[in-house]
Amino acid sequence: MKVLITGSSGLIGSELVTFFDARAERVVGIDNNMRADFFGEEGDTQWNQQRLIQTTRHFRHYHLDIRDRAALAFLVQSEGTFDLIIHCAAQPSHDLAARRPFDDFDVNAVGTMNLLETTRQYSPDAVFVFMSTNKVYGDAPNDLPLEERDRRWDYARPQDYDGVSEEMRIDRSKHSIFGASKIAADLMTQEYGRYFGMKTHCLRGGCLTGPNHSGVELHGFLSHLVKTQLTGCTYRVFGYKGKQVRDNIHSYDVARAIEEIYRNPRSGEVYNLGGGRQNSCSILEAFDLIEQLTGRKMNYEYTEKARDGDHICYISNMTRFKSHYPKWQLIRSLDDILIDIIRAWKVRLAA
Ligand SMILES: NC(=O)c1ccc[n+]([C@@H]2O[C@H](COP(=O)([O-])OP(=O)(O)OC[C@H]3O[C@@H](n4cnc5c(N)ncnc54)[C@H](O)[C@@H]3O)[C@@H](O)[C@H]2O)c1
Repeated sequence: MKVLITGSSGLIGSELVTFFDARAERVVGIDNNMRADFFGEEGDTQWNQQRLIQTTRHFRHYHLDIRDRAALAFLVQSEGTFDLIIHCAAQPSHDLAARRPFDDFDVNAVGTMNLLETTRQYSPDAVFVFMSTNKVYGDAPNDLPLEERDRRWDYARPQDYDGVSEEMRIDRSKHSIFGASKIAADLMTQEYGRYFGMKTHCLRGGCLTGPNHSGVELHGFLSHLVKTQLTGCTYRVFGYKGKQVRDNIHSYDVARAIEEIYRNPRSGEVYNLGGGRQNSCSILEAFDLIEQLTGRKMNYEYTEKARDGDHICYISNMTRFKSHYPKWQLIRSLDDILIDIIRAWKVRLAA
């Protein structure tokens, strides 16, 4: 089995490298550390790249920009056909996209197009997985009736209890510039499945998280929150009284979901992928959990204005994925996730 992973030094990409290194004959990673360009030193992913090189057996890293379609085509041609291609490289932040719209679109939309077309030309039978996002729904999920609880917002109607399904509309909503570039990539990925018959899949992630995130204020909610707490800094909450809800899924459970897709691929498919209700928390609830686990008080300040296009309550409804892949279920709980992130930050901060 031969696997190509873009964004291989990032949170999800690096988890996938480790995961498939144990299962594949060859794992090829592409990452140009653009996260450092996007977010500065804190976003630098080279530590993770080095860690992978030291801990894997079948991994080869290429410092390559997915915007460079000639280089991408050359790499795939020279490496030969792949069985599985997982596309994780991205500009992942709402706020940064508004400041750097061309970079955002070039990486997210055009970069995905480059990878799809390279796959079609040189590795058309590969199972292709694109890491999409729940931001493709824009702020449409905010139209669901909500009720305010003590520490969180929640859905008011019983039929929304399990969260947002793929039936949610993707247009006529405010996505942020980031959400719109990702939706362009998501649609193109679907189209390469429907039109060309390729084995393409979009995974619309909730909050993907885990120990190897270079979390920053603009991206990587739990990782940034834990780091802020452990370093005694102040976390900034943007709007919704801190009661906004996210569902969190460990990068290992993401990798297991992709393995299931690889074993039984489909074409032009779209799935929500998140921790669901069982792994959901509001920011205030996350503070409570982290305080319990570390014994330290969380310092935070509150800004009334919410981020543009931000979700008030988002829980991924996983019914569709689970019905196609019944063997998969979440194995890492929210506590497991936080313990893992805390442990990883303690090691990194001590280094
Ligand atoms: N983390 C989340 O909460 C979340 C939620 C939903 C969707 N997603 C999606 O999942 C994917 C992976 O997210 P992540 O959290 O691992 O992000 P990440 O920022 O940790 O990793 C992305 C990696 O891509 C690399 N990269 C960026 N531009 C590149 C380019 N032009 N060429 C080559 N490499 C480039 C970065 O250096 C980084 O290492 C992204 O597509 C993201 O939009 C993430």
